[in-house]
Amino acid sequence: MTTETEVRIFETPKKVYKAIAKEIVKHAQKTNQPRFDIALSGGNSPKGLFKKMSKKYRDLIPWDRIHFWWGDERCVSPHDAESNYKMTVDYLLSKINIPKENIHRIKGERSPVEEAQRYSEEITLNLNSRNEIPVFDLIILGMGGDGHTASIFPNQMELLNSDKICEVALHPNSGQKRITLSGRVINNANRIFFLVTGENKAIRISEIMNDTDAAKQLPAYHIAANSGRLIWFLDDAAASKI
Ligand code: 6PG
Repeated sequence: MTTETEVRIFETPKKVYKAIAKEIVKHAQKTNQPRFDIALSGGNSPKGLFKKMSKKYRDLIPWDRIHFWWGDERCVSPHDAESNYKMTVDYLLSKINIPKENIHRIKGERSPVEEAQRYSEEITLNLNSRNEIPVFDLIILGMGGDGHTASIFPNQMELLNSDKICEVALHPNSGQKRITLSGRVINNANRIFFLVTGENKAIRISEIMNDTDAAKQLPAYHIAANSGRLIWFLDDAAASKI
């Protein structure tokens, strides 16, 4: 599989969600593989996508073959408003009929170091590898206004090249502990979809798309599907300064 990067720009966030949902339907329906492993992003951006997947496209997605993972999680209880898992339950998992064994939650309530190790082992047990690195079929990423992605923040760029599968990260402002996939695992995915919408992301998107010196300080800039396909799904607002 060749390394390709593509940028798709849509008028509204809803059209971004629809485009990503259709891609998930297309790839998940391929019957040449027994399962389709997707790592989800957290935050707010995926909420609209999850709504699309749980309503308009619900009957087109073979849920019994889909395995959900997370690209990162806050080290909080699964019932905490901050939990990416809770957000996914609220907007998607509570609305679809998916086998519970297909849900691979990061246990944010556990000791971060121990859970990073446990989750890494669960990933290794379930996924194929390429170059001895686990391969996700699809990783969906958001991007923060500071250019972070997953929970790899600009002041922790070393997590991009960590030789671990999962790392413990610290939110630079709140100090909140997080568990994140390392950049090496993210970049090893077959497909990476960035879901970025809103005016507040426009400056960073402009820096990244114009390959500026400032971009090189941003974790999101260093995401590249080394042996797969990277597609940026943007709305007009996020793309307005390219
Ligand atoms: C998280 C996310 C994070 C998110 C960005 C964008 O745990 O917060 O995984 O990487 O994707 O911060 O967040 P919004 O979608 O809320 O802008």
